Amino acid sequence: MAKPILLVTRKLPDAIEARASRDYDARLNPNDDPWSTDGAEIARRANEIGAAGILGAAGDKFDAACIKALPDSVKVIATFSVGFDHIDIAAAKARNIVVVNTPEVLSFATAECAFTLMLMAARRAGEGERMVRAGQWKGWAPTQLMGVTLEGKKLGILGFGRIGRELAAMARGFRMEIHYRDIQKLPPEVEQGAIYHDNEDSFLGAIDIISMHVPGGDANRHWLNTARLNKMKPGSIVVNSGRGVSVHDESLIAALRSGHIRAAGLDVYDGEPKVNPGYLTLENVALLPHLGSATIEVRDAMGNRALENLDAVLIKHTAPPHRVA
Ligand code: DGY
Repeated sequence: MAKPILLVTRKLPDAIEARASRDYDARLNPNDDPWSTDGAEIARRANEIGAAGILGAAGDKFDAACIKALPDSVKVIATFSVGFDHIDIAAAKARNIVVVNTPEVLSFATAECAFTLMLMAARRAGEGERMVRAGQWKGWAPTQLMGVTLEGKKLGILGFGRIGRELAAMARGFRMEIHYRDIQKLPPEVEQGAIYHDNEDSFLGAIDIISMHVPGGDANRHWLNTARLNKMKPGSIVVNSGRGVSVHDESLIAALRSGHIRAAGLDVYDGEPKVNPGYLTLENVALLPHLGSATIEVRDAMGNRALENLDAVLIKHTAPPHRVA
C-alpha cells in the first residue's frame, strides 16, 4: 500500500526526518526555507502533492484562509510545538481536520529556559557578558553589577500548568516562595505549598518576580500592561517564556526605563521574530530567541510525539494521543 503523503514544513532533527521518510512519503524542507510562515504557500504545496497530513511548527501560519485552501486529502495537521495559537482551530474543525500537538516532553526544558531568564535578569548576566566581550571589564569591584539574589524572593507564576509547575519545583531548590494564579485553586498535592491567589491584585502586590506561562491568542493579549505593572512592587522582575502577545511591550519598556521594573528576561515576542526596538536600547533586559524547548533531547522527543500522533490518524486509524481539535 502506498505510504501517506506528508508535507513537512520545517527542517527537523535528522532522526525525525529519517523516521518520517521511513513511514511516509515525506516531502521534507531540508534547507528550512521559510515558506511555511506563509499560509497560502503551505496550502499551495499541500495541493500540489495531495498531502494526507502536514507536519508544521510554531510560527507557521495555519490561518483560516490557509486551512480553507487545503485540499480535501488533508486529514491532520500536527504541530511541532505545544502551543497551537498559530492554527485557526475553528477553521480546522469546520473542515474536519484533526489538529495534534506535542505537550509534556518540553515542560522541563521550557521551565529551565524561564529559570535561565530569571537568573540572567536578577544577576545581570547579560550586562556582565557584554562588558567582558567589549573588553570593558577593569577587574573585580565591590559595587560592580550588583543584582539581587533569588533566595527568599516571592515568585509569582501566572498559569500553573505543566511548565509553571516545573518552574515551581526548580524555584523551591532556590528557597523561593511560590505564588500562583490559575483558573482555579489546584489540589494540595499539585500546589506542593504554592500559595494560590484568587484575586489578581493580591497576586501582583505580593510577588517580587512574575513568570508568564499563559497561552497565546486573544484571551491574554497584552495582559501585562501598565495598570498591572503598576500593581507590582517597585524593583520587581518580569520573565516571559510563554507567548509574546501576553505582554504589552510599550508598557514593559516604559517600566524598565523608569526602573519600576528592575529587569526582565524574554524568550518570546509579540509579532516575533520582530522584536520591539525599545528593548534593544535597554541594558536591564535579557533577550533570547524563543529557545524554550531547544535542547537536542527535547526536539527529538517532540518530533517522535508529533509522528506518534500522525501515525495514529494516518496509519493506525486510531485516536491520536494529543489531539487539540
Ligand atoms: C511551543 O512548543 O509552543 C514552543 O513555544 C515552540 O517551541
